Amino acid sequence: MTTLKINGKTISVNAEPDTPLLWVLRGELHQVGTKFGCGKALCGACTVHLDGVAVRSCITPLAAVGEREVVTIEGVQGAEIDALRQAWTEVDVVQCGYCQSGQLMSASALLKTTPQPSDADIDAAMSGNICRCGTYPRIRAAIHAAANNRTSAPAASAGNTK
Ligand code: FES
Repeated sequence: MTTLKINGKTISVNAEPDTPLLWVLRGELHQVGTKFGCGKALCGACTVHLDGVAVRSCITPLAAVGEREVVTIEGVQGAEIDALRQAWTEVDVVQCGYCQSGQLMSASALLKTTPQPSDADIDAAMSGNICRCGTYPRIRAAIHAAANNRTSAPAASAGNTK
């Protein structure tokens, strides 16, 4: 048994320490918003947060998680993800959608550390998230829109101020 902190809960899972976190999230906990893409940390579909840092859960063994808090697309909260979800809709980012939970997890980690990212900041933070549909220009536009929305209306996530 291994104990993990996931989305605000402490959970014991029946898995070996070398089991990838993604296997537990999807197979045991049925948190299927986190996607399996390549299994080699090359595509970013499996991105989750470990203490707020975007990591690839497909290559992160449970032993490496330790006491850190795992947050998945199902549990991520805060002004950054609220602004991103709104911007994603406004910009109409999504095509097939497969990569998008990973994109949002990377983008929300970026906005936490860099509230007004430049194009270069966005490209650096998002370079590990592949989109086979080529939504990159809309992702970049939506991240800028989310950053600007937060700057102009920081209370927007708590209620509609428009
Ligand atoms: Fe289809 Fe990104 S929206 S893979």
